[in-house]
Amino acid sequence: MLERILDEAIKLELSLSRLYLLFKAHHPKDAKFWESMAKEEVGHASQIERFKKTLLENGKSTNEYSDVDLTKIMANNTQTQKLIEDFEEGVSRELAFRTAVKLENSASEEHYRIIFNAETESRLTKVFQSLSLEDKKHYNRLLDYIEKKNIQI
Ligand SMILES: [Fe+2]
Repeated sequence: MLERILDEAIKLELSLSRLYLLFKAHHPKDAKFWESMAKEEVGHASQIERFKKTLLENGKSTNEYSDVDLTKIMANNTQTQKLIEDFEEGVSRELAFRTAVKLENSASEEHYRIIFNAETESRLTKVFQSLSLEDKKHYNRLLDYIEKKNIQI
């Protein structure tokens, strides 16, 4: 089960990265911004991947988190996947930023939810705490940029 959580979490980070690269392709004037956001999402995916590898190498029981409900994170993944398809041909600058703000917010909520559902203080909670902090940073960075560039979301 733990493996499933981590796989879905990795998938979400990579989908966000792909989406931001799509925004970059459609909006060259924000290219630098989206590029750095996309890179960091890949970094988050690697962070989870490394954690997963260590766990598996140590032969940890993956039943530890059997209570965590995967429905929400899977729904987030499906939603992000659909956005990538919808925006393939184009997306307005405003909608791109509005979407990213929403997604970072729900990623943060989801990462928190996993922490709260984990039974004990563990490396899993630490990894997800760090991810959640990263989402918040992204959320704030988006808002700063939106304000600085006067983008009407
Ligand atoms: Fe992330």
